Amino acid sequence: MKKVLFVCLGNICRSPLGEAVFNYKASALDMDADSAGTAAYHVGENPDHRSIEVARKHGVPISHKAQKFVAEDFDRFDYVIAMDEQNYNDMKALANGSTEHLYLLREFDPDSNGDLNVPDPYYGGIDGFEKVFQMVSRSVDGLINHIQSKK
Ligand code: 4NP
Repeated sequence: MKKVLFVCLGNICRSPLGEAVFNYKASALDMDADSAGTAAYHVGENPDHRSIEVARKHGVPISHKAQKFVAEDFDRFDYVIAMDEQNYNDMKALANGSTEHLYLLREFDPDSNGDLNVPDPYYGGIDGFEKVFQMVSRSVDGLINHIQSKK
C-alpha cells in the first residue's frame, strides 16, 4: 500500500481536494491518500464549502477534518505532495533541508507550463476553486501513473 499525503496551508481548500480526487481515481489500486496543512488555523474543520461544491459537481466524494502537518508524516507517507512552493519550503525546513518523499503536485501536471504552484483560492470566488480542481485532477492522473511506474 502506497500512502500519499497532500499538503497546503490551511488544509481546507486545496489539499482536501487532492485527497478526495486521488482516493476517487485510485480506489481500485493499492494506494491511499490523506491531507494536512502547514498551519493550524483550521484544525478540526470540514473542507471549505466551495471545495465541497466543486467536488460534488464532479461527482467526487469529499470528507475530511483539517489537521496540521508534522515532521513525523515524512515517515508515515511514501509521497508528501505540496500544493505550492511555500508549502514545499515550509516542509523542507521541518525536515532539516531534506527533500526525501517530498514533491510539488504540479511536477505531475502535463499542462503546468513551468508553473509549479496550485494557487491559493481562499480569498477568491468559485471559479478559482474550479481551476484548482482541474489542475489537481490532471496532476493526480500523472501522480498515479508515476507511483504505478515505480512499483
Ligand atoms: P488552503 O487555503 O491552504 O488551500 O486550505 C487556505 C485556507 C485558509 C487560509 C489560507 C489558505 N487562511 O489564511 O485561513
